[in-house]
This record gives sequence, C-alpha cells and structure tokens, in this order.
Amino acid sequence: MNKIFRNAKFITNSDYDPYFDINASNWVKRPRLYQHTDLVSSDGLPVFIKDFALKSTENTSLYFSALGCVDIFINGKRVGSDEMKPGCTNFHKRALYIEYDISEYLNVGGNRILAVVSSGWYVGRNVAPYYGKNAPAFIACIMQNGKKVCETDETWKTDVCGQIRTADIWDGEYRDGREPDYTEMSVDSFNCDEWKNSEIANCFTGELSEFVGPQVRVRDNLNLTAEKITVTDGIKYNGSDYGEISIAEENAKLPLKVKKGQTVIIDLAQEMVGWAKIKVKGARGTIIKMRFAEFLNDSGEISRGNDGPKGSVYTVNLRSALAKAYYVLSGKGEEIYRPTFTFFGYRYVELTAEGEYELIDFVSETVGSDTKETGRLETSDELVNKLISNTIWGQRSNYLSIPTDCPQRDERFGWTGDAQAFSITAAYNADVSGFMKKWMQDARDAQSDEGAYSDVIPRSQCCRSENAAAWADAGIIIPYNMYMIYGDKSIIEDHYTSMEKYISQLVINYGMSGPIPRYGDWLAYDYCKNEFISSAYFVHDIDLMIKMSEIIEKEDRAEYYRKLREKAYNYFAENFMDEDGKLLGQTQTDKVISLAFNLISGDYAKEIADELEKQIKKNGSRLSTGFLGTYNLCPTLSKYGKDNMAYTLLMQRKEPSWLYSIDQGATTIWERWNSYTLEKGFGDVGMNSFNHYAYGSVVEWIYRYAAGIEPIEAGFKKFALQPRVDTRKGAELPDGQKPMTHVKASFDSVNGTIESEWTKDKKFTYKCTVPKGTSAVLYLPVFAKKITFNGKQHSVSEFKNENGCAVIKLNAGKYLIEQ
Ligand code: BGC
Repeated sequence: MNKIFRNAKFITNSDYDPYFDINASNWVKRPRLYQHTDLVSSDGLPVFIKDFALKSTENTSLYFSALGCVDIFINGKRVGSDEMKPGCTNFHKRALYIEYDISEYLNVGGNRILAVVSSGWYVGRNVAPYYGKNAPAFIACIMQNGKKVCETDETWKTDVCGQIRTADIWDGEYRDGREPDYTEMSVDSFNCDEWKNSEIANCFTGELSEFVGPQVRVRDNLNLTAEKITVTDGIKYNGSDYGEISIAEENAKLPLKVKKGQTVIIDLAQEMVGWAKIKVKGARGTIIKMRFAEFLNDSGEISRGNDGPKGSVYTVNLRSALAKAYYVLSGKGEEIYRPTFTFFGYRYVELTAEGEYELIDFVSETVGSDTKETGRLETSDELVNKLISNTIWGQRSNYLSIPTDCPQRDERFGWTGDAQAFSITAAYNADVSGFMKKWMQDARDAQSDEGAYSDVIPRSQCCRSENAAAWADAGIIIPYNMYMIYGDKSIIEDHYTSMEKYISQLVINYGMSGPIPRYGDWLAYDYCKNEFISSAYFVHDIDLMIKMSEIIEKEDRAEYYRKLREKAYNYFAENFMDEDGKLLGQTQTDKVISLAFNLISGDYAKEIADELEKQIKKNGSRLSTGFLGTYNLCPTLSKYGKDNMAYTLLMQRKEPSWLYSIDQGATTIWERWNSYTLEKGFGDVGMNSFNHYAYGSVVEWIYRYAAGIEPIEAGFKKFALQPRVDTRKGAELPDGQKPMTHVKASFDSVNGTIESEWTKDKKFTYKCTVPKGTSAVLYLPVFAKKITFNGKQHSVSEFKNENGCAVIKLNAGKYLIEQ
C-alpha cells in the first residue's frame, strides 16, 4: 500500500445493492436492462461522513481514491471541479489517487467531509463482476503540514442514501431533489448520528498510484446550447409504422413553460459527450426524464430502421445502454440539475414530464479528459473543414479517461485497434502525451502474466480477449507514435520491458505468424485476409522494436530484433507472396499495408503503388478499406508521390468516403461509412455508432502531407515542411470535385508553434513559421522558374531538386515564398 495511505482503509457499505443483477451471465441480456426498460430509482449511493477538528487550516491536502467514482464535499462545498474521479483503471492492479489542496474549504475548529461513491468503472453494469463484486469503496487521508489529521476507517459514518438514487456510466442517473443534497449533508447541522459505522473493504489488492494524465472535466469553453427546441404533444398518423410527432411549437425559446403531456426535443446541431445541465421550476415530485440520442427518427418506418415516430429520438443503436437522466423536482423554486456519475454521447436531448414545469435554462456540458488542443486546420473546401471539425469532436467525445471506441452505447471501452489507428491524428489535434502515458500504464496493468496485451484496455467483463492483430499491437505502436510527436523517451523506457514480453510470448505461442487474426481490416468493403494482417503487423511491431531499442540505446536488443525481423519477414513472404516475390492479396488494404510497413520495396513497390492507384480509380475513385487500411491509405499514396489520388479520396462524396457521411448529416465520425443514409435510413442496429473516431485518422494525412508538417527528429526539433499541393486537372478530377486551393495548419509542438499555409491560384504562395530553437527542411513544390523568398528573388536552379521540389533548409523564422 502506498505510504500516504499506510493506515487508511478502503471503506464501504454493503447495504448498497446494485440495481442490476450482477451475476447475470450475459452482460447484454441482464434482466431489466435491454432497450426500452426504464431507469429505476433505488435507495441511493453509499455516502460516508467524518467530522474532524483542526487547529489551523493551512497547508492541508486531501489524498483520495475510490473503487468506483467519487464526489467529495467539505463543509457544504463540493471539492474541486474534476469529474468521474479517480478514473478508469484496471482495478485488479491499480486505482489512482488524487491530491487536492483543501485549505480553502476548512475551518479552524469543527469540519465535516462527505464522500458519495458510485459504481463507476469498478462495479458498473458493464464491468461487474470482473473488477468489483461488491459495493464501491472509498479511501482518503488528510495531511496537514506533513502530518495526518484524518483518514478513512470504520469510524466514518455511512448510509446508502442521498439525492443520487441510482447511477451507472452506461445506464445513467436518477436524482431525487426531494432528498437532502450532499452540500446540506456535509455541514454539521445535518444529523447522521443514527448512521452505522463504515465497513472495511479488503477487496483491493492492487497499487494506489498517483494520478497521471489530464483530469476529466466539464470543458466549459466547449459547452453547447440548444440550436433548435421543438415542443411536441403526441403522435400523429402519417401512414408509417410509428407515425410522426405532433409539433406544438417548432422553434421554442427559453425560458419555456412546458405543459402537461408535452415533450421537448433539443437539437444541439453537434454530436458531443457530456450531459445536460437544466434549470427548471415546477411542483414537488415532478419527474423530468431525459433521454440522449444521436439521431432523430426520419420517417417512422421500420424498413428504414426507425424505432419510433418521425421526429422522435432514435435510441435503439445504444443497444442495452439506457442512457437516461431523471430528476425529481424538490419544488423549492428554481432548481439546477446535471448528472454526476455518468455521461452520454448525443446530439439530441428529449425531456418529458408527467406534469407541467418551466424549463428556464439548458446547457449541454462537454465532459472529457481535459487535453489542451494543439492543432488547427483550415482548407478551401468547406466539407473537408467539416470533416476536420467532426474528427475533433470525435476525439473530444472519446478521450474520456481512456480512449473509447464510442461514447454512447453499451461499450465505451478502450478498444485498442481504434485507438492506435487514430493516435497520430489525436496527437496533432491535442496534447495527449499524459493521456497516453496513463493509458499505456493501463496497458501494462491489463497485460497477461505471459505478456499478451488485451483487445480492450482496461479489460472488462465482456471483453477480455487478447493478442488480436492490430488491436493488441497498440501496446507497441502507441509508445512509438507518442515518442515521435512529443520527443519524450520515457514512454518507451517505461514500457520497454512490457513490449519485449509481448513480442516474446507472440513468438512462443504463434511462431512467426504474429498476433491472432481476429478483427482483420475491421468493417472493410473488401476482404483482406486476417492472417495477412497478423503477419504484416508482426513485422511492423518488430520494426518498431528495432527503432525503439535504438532510441533507448539497447543495441543488443536492436540486433536481436533485426534477426527476428528477418524470420518474421520470411514467414510473410512465404505465406503472402508467390515464388517471384509478388503479393498474393489483391485488395487495396493488402497493397496499402505492404507499402506502409515496407514489406515490399524498390521498383516492385512503385509498381504496386501504381496498381493501387489504378485500382482505386477503377473502383470509382473510392476506397474499399476498413479501420486499418484507411489510416494508412492516404499517407501511403503520398509516400509514393500520389498526392492527387489522396486528394481525390479525401474529397470524394460517393459511398464509401469521408464526405459521404457528411452529406448524410454527420457531425462526428461514424463507425461505418454508411451508418445512416438519406436513401435507406439507419444501418445495422447491431453495431452502429455515430461517434467512432477511427476513420477520422485521415486528419493525420492532412497535417503530415496536405499541410506538410512532419517530424524528422522526434518532438519536431527538426521537421519537414512538405506541403503536397493538389494539382489535379482535366480527367484526373472526378466529376463534381474541385481542386483544393488552400490549406492552412498550425501545430503547437513541444518545441513551439509550427505554421504551414499554402494557396494556389494563378500564383503559388507558401507561408510558414519555424519556431525558435528548431530547424526545418522545406520541400517546396516548384511551379515556376523564379522563387521569391521573403521578398528576394531566386532562381529555382539555386536549390537542390528532389522529386519536383526545391529542398530548402530553414532556420527559425517566418517565411513568405511566392512563385
Ligand atoms: C467496437 C470497435 C472495435 C471492435 C473490435 C466493436 O464493437 O465498437 O470499434 O474495435 O468491436 O472488433
């Protein structure tokens, strides 16, 4: 046990009864929990109270952690502004502790601390009983000037009670405003003498370690307000299966008097993650029921996948997640409610109540890991700009303590394949170094004794599989990617032994065939053999191990991996190439991965790149790749000088393509290219998320190639500026596409802000900024014989030419180049 908590005990209250059947064999089918069952009120959550006296208030810190999620109050005030504390970890191995300076909350004399604990990621509906089998628990220690003044033990009073009656990450929250509030309960006038003593929870055998990474917070600057408020008062017949909502008021404004029987539907015009904060007024006991949805039913027809009347919220794709928030009014004038121990992925909020009430105010609060955003992109194409915005919202939505696959349905797990595919995009968009440092700790915690990385990190009740090709490999790929973007070797050093273990158990268990072929090129339109993916990723893993061994100066290990690579490559060649060394697989992904991972080289690689280009053209200038092929696709085309084809794919609007989903109404990245189509309605409900960032990985290409900001040395101490300009014209331009004429990017690297911007009309103008202390190599596309460089004319021939680009070394400074 950690030194700070040497004598402190995890305390719990076994009267807490989870509202679901914790032992039900199938998590999806848990009784009462499939779609369209209701969120129920229960007795409340475990609440712990301790009174303690202080002679001074100075220099006092609270250290705490929880098995579950905890909210803390001292002397009538909520402590801190972090949410879902202490976050998601593998509770078999670790819970994070947080330190707060609490001096400002304290009194000289009597003080009271209160903690309310929810099931969280410990014993929540979709993780139990894998981690917790019992009630959630809490541990704390208060230190003043280095001396302990209070800590958790059985003398803390406890009860299962309070306003939050039921709380679960996946199902939502039921709060009853008629019950005493935690601020009220955390002052000594609230009598808890009758409460029982806490029980000591001995279930935790892991390590309590210091919080790493950014806290989960309400990100106030990203909060949204209602774009459109519709008031409905029933259903009318429109000839469809479910009919359509009857609209009482179309563009209602706040404050709004909602009549008995009316439902309010709020459209934020943007899918996001968080919760609704409402200010309401009404009679005591009125229950305001909120449902959160990504889409509205578009016709009321079952054949289009609708689950209700046209215009009502579509929620069947949330599968077993109830995703609801209920609030019972206290009737004491204006009341503010927002959930505490859950979050939702949504664009629409539906409010219903049996009685009348007044909706005075509404804010949709954006909740997520508070990563500082570091990248800005803008292009001449409005739809591409929308794609960039959708990707950023996808990241804001899915980086919440762990990188989740999606934030709304009954998963919200750290699916590794999605995370590795998106990791470079994420690292340009925001500073995710701390976030990933924490998640790689989670990866080690979830690693099997033998060394296997899990497919979902942390593991969960329903997802415990491991060693899946391209998924488990996140444990190798992400540390390397983070090192390249942030230049901090410690992520490799901390993770190195674990990575070695992973590779070594792959060798022992699967020889040279690589990790288990399981998900393959997930959701691709063309099937590329799963075994090919395994073998290719294995060689790629080893390549990264060679590089990482060199980075941390382990030459003997680098040498070991060089030899291993040869064997792994031979396996690849024997199984996926013919006798002449030609690739057997013919899908786009076969070619993309082979080129991206350097499994083919020289003239043959060029030939395959040409073939790939032709194949895409033949496919109507459309991709046919899944999660894996897609993130490698445009960078690979550019690696072989096929930037124009990359632009064609980026700006394609026919299915499947990025802009296609935007034309169908996407405000984030969808799980499938066709999750919803105007033509056919909703996609397969079994797996259809509207906020799955994996395909947003194309933004990596926009940063690295369209804008051209690419590290040469890790951390961008030295970098390339290689703006790839769209030069398509004539037959090369697919119908309806116009060339990109402008790309502007800036990226706050750890070594300063890098800017790169080009405009191509009659002239070609390029502007860039190389931050102080760094240098860059500019690969300037040549369009004219003369170049004006910060006002001075040069002849192109003065510069070295490489593949049609003038190669110019740039020291720190701002540059304006015209041709
Ligand atoms: C998730 C994916 C994940 C996949 C594994 C899905 O249910 O939502 O994004 O990578 O399972 O195949």
